[in-house]
Amino acid sequence: MSTAEFVVVANRLPVDRATDDIEGPDAWRRSPGGLVTALEPIMQKADGAWVGWAGQPDLDVAPFDFEGTHLVPVRLSAEDVELYYEGFSNDTIWPLYHDVISEPRYSRVWWDAYVRVNRRFAEAAAAATAEGGIVWVQDYQLQLVPKMLRELRPDVTIGYFHHIPFPAYGLYSQLPWRRQVLEGLLGADVIGFQRVADAGNFARSVRRQLRYETKASGIAVPDGDGGTRIALAKAFPISIDASSYIELAQRADVQERAREIRESLGNPKRILLGVDRLDYTKGIRHRLKAYGELLAEGRLDVEDVTLVQVASPSRERVAAYIQLRDEIELTVGRIDGDHDTMGHTAIRYLHQAYPREEMVALFLAADVMLVTALRDGMNLVAKEYVASRVDNRGVLVLSEFAGAADELGTAVRINPHDIEGLKEAIMRAVEMPPAEQGRRMRALRRRVLEHSVEDWSREFLEALAVFHTTREGVA
Ligand code: G6P
Repeated sequence: MSTAEFVVVANRLPVDRATDDIEGPDAWRRSPGGLVTALEPIMQKADGAWVGWAGQPDLDVAPFDFEGTHLVPVRLSAEDVELYYEGFSNDTIWPLYHDVISEPRYSRVWWDAYVRVNRRFAEAAAAATAEGGIVWVQDYQLQLVPKMLRELRPDVTIGYFHHIPFPAYGLYSQLPWRRQVLEGLLGADVIGFQRVADAGNFARSVRRQLRYETKASGIAVPDGDGGTRIALAKAFPISIDASSYIELAQRADVQERAREIRESLGNPKRILLGVDRLDYTKGIRHRLKAYGELLAEGRLDVEDVTLVQVASPSRERVAAYIQLRDEIELTVGRIDGDHDTMGHTAIRYLHQAYPREEMVALFLAADVMLVTALRDGMNLVAKEYVASRVDNRGVLVLSEFAGAADELGTAVRINPHDIEGLKEAIMRAVEMPPAEQGRRMRALRRRVLEHSVEDWSREFLEALAVFHTTREGVA
């Protein structure tokens, strides 16, 4: 089997299966995510490999090459999907790490599956990596992989990036397997987080739980031979491929589509927009509550405003997501029922995912973008909206509980739990004069354009390269 100098390990492969009928590379298309775009040039240059799940249970696919990347599918049975993906990853770790917005379930059967599947990913990565190569593990589904991989392949340099929040010690310590997870992560040389606060929470848990010493240079991790090695835990805020959003936003057909969208909504004076995976962390219910009250109080009028809420389907077999969908759809139905007229709708609700072009047209059509997350690692939608506003117009209302708030200082900041405050912020955004919109948006755009997802991956890999060079020097 061929091996690669640079290997990415993620729960999902960077491709989706386009159809079930065809075999081979024709059956796949590149997934639209930012991570995939960010790593594409590096993968091609380094002749890289990507280890991940193909997204369907019981699918047996041999490794294959796709647009310059060697893809190594990891098979998950229907039971693995239920216990490792839906169970431990998305009904234990996800709610716990998002400040227990939904109650995490602690199941020993799920944990056993998580260990088993993480081992499978680690073994696949070990087999795919060349002598002295670099492996970059992605996200919370694979927290045990760094340690497992180090045991299998001590010659390899290992990075890990955590795309979601890392909770405060008081919450983290609920996890019955808290020591194993910390030890798993500390198998990496560099452990990257979205916010400085996440890296701080992690270091505190390491100190309190494992009693490891944390220094300015990093965390002293016992190496098994009586000595220690250094692991670096640091913030590397992720971003988007800003130039691709700018290009789309400048296209005449996309701008025309934005006009069409406004027209199809009855040309309201103001369009408000929410774009989220249908997830309880996103604060969709809080947003609807605030908006519904503004309509009920007559501060907003359905003849003048429409809220477009795109809620893309996600994790649809997990109980908390099923319940959330029911609640949201009930609320949307009530608000629309109370306020709609024949020609105008209060909320245009779309339980669908759209291609990037359509999203950029929506961003251009929207006067106010509502990001009301209760907790969010970064929230790339906020950055996508900003990058798309090549006209320097539009208002971003942004939760301080999203990682993006650390960088996007001139957004209208909100605490989504404070419904009165959220209502005031929405009114401020709706009424904001164009000059102020422009001032704020220009500052937001400067930040998003000067730090794109390529900078993110370069900065992370530069930090990792220090460990790679040191190891080579020793060998
Ligand atoms: C978040 C996570 C990713 C995950 C994505 C979609 O952004 O950080 O790891 O891939 O959600 O969720 P899904 O469960 O469909 O992969």
